[in-house]
Amino acid sequence: MIRTRPPAPIDRRQLLRVGFFGALSLAGAEILGSVVPFMQVRKIVGLGVPVNVGPKSQVLSAFRETNDAPILFRQGHFFLIHAPGGIVAAYRKCTHLGCAVPWSAPEDRFHCPCHQSQYDKHTAVVLYGPAPKPLQLFHISETEAGLVVDTNPLNVIDRPNNRWDPSVIEIADGAG
Ligand code: FES
Repeated sequence: MIRTRPPAPIDRRQLLRVGFFGALSLAGAEILGSVVPFMQVRKIVGLGVPVNVGPKSQVLSAFRETNDAPILFRQGHFFLIHAPGGIVAAYRKCTHLGCAVPWSAPEDRFHCPCHQSQYDKHTAVVLYGPAPKPLQLFHISETEAGLVVDTNPLNVIDRPNNRWDPSVIEIADGAG
């Protein structure tokens, strides 16, 4: 008959070592879990890319048929607006604290739900505060494929004075 030796008892030092490395790997996993999400690149969908909104003639005819109701491009975060003499693209981020500004058809103006700022239908200048300045405008260019709005929020037309300035128009109503 073969007699096996009983397993050697784990001494205190070994026990402490196992506990220490166990706790160390647990802490490491926790740190990794909280850091990894910050290392992933989060893609902002829509904003920042050029948006083709179709031919100028099509946009102008949409304005004609709707009494110049602004046209929302939700993904690009802007409205096309029929300004006096041309088409502009208004970034729908409220200049007060940044809420998304909706169009209010019954009021015939833009009305921010957060603190009640109101903006003009044709120029997006402030009618009632607390917004300090008009909605910012995106640049628009005309290409053979249609009007293209540059939705880069770092390349906006800012209007610190709350007044309409026709020089911001890049797409005039007339032919050409
Ligand atoms: S964020 Fe629009 S009024 Fe305050």
